[in-house]
Amino acid sequence: MFKRINKLLSNFSTIQTSSIMKNKVCFVTGAGSGIGKAIALKYTLNGATVISADINLDSVKQTVKEMNGGLALKVDVTNENQVNEAVAESVKQYGRLDVMVCNAGLQLISPVHELSYENWKKVISVNLDGAFLCSKAALNQMYIQENKFPASIIYIGSVHR
Ligand SMILES: NC(=O)c1ccc[n+]([C@@H]2O[C@H](COP(=O)([O-])OP(=O)(O)OC[C@H]3O[C@@H](n4cnc5c(N)ncnc54)[C@H](O)[C@@H]3O)[C@@H](O)[C@H]2O)c1
Repeated sequence: MFKRINKLLSNFSTIQTSSIMKNKVCFVTGAGSGIGKAIALKYTLNGATVISADINLDSVKQTVKEMNGGLALKVDVTNENQVNEAVAESVKQYGRLDVMVCNAGLQLISPVHELSYENWKKVISVNLDGAFLCSKAALNQMYIQENKFPASIIYIGSVHR
């Protein structure tokens, strides 16, 4: 998986493009690194306007710099006000929201009997509460625009055993 992400990031300028994302407005969480960054770069290459959101502002600024456009926002996906404000700011700037990618995630991998309750709650908070808050904020806009612009929400997650 990491090899594929790194290959995508290093071959950004040579990735095959398609017109499917042209003119779409896409909000990607956790876009400062890894899979989220790869999604943001690929969407941009395919003609979308991307809002790159991450708890680490420097990392999303770098993503936006590499994409040569779009918006970098510091957003903690577990903070309802921050999520709502970021989605509202995106809609204010671009007029609509076509795709919400709930990608921000923490992986604190450990056997259950060794995992602290504190770390369990951190993972649940970012991966699940974050996805809920981003979905809720996005749906409030997506239902307003649904007759004009059908929209999608995409969830990225992991399963470990
Ligand atoms: N790496 C893998 O092998 C793999 C495989 C399948 C699925 N996934 C899933 O893909 C998603 C991204 O994984 P990745 O490997 O790219 O991880 P990553 O650590 O490279 O990226 C995660 C990003 O989320 C950001 N983030 C963390 N907490 C946040 C918060 N509260 N608010 C906003 N942003 C926050 C981080 O700053 C980081 O930029 C995760 O949900 C992960 O579970 C990863």
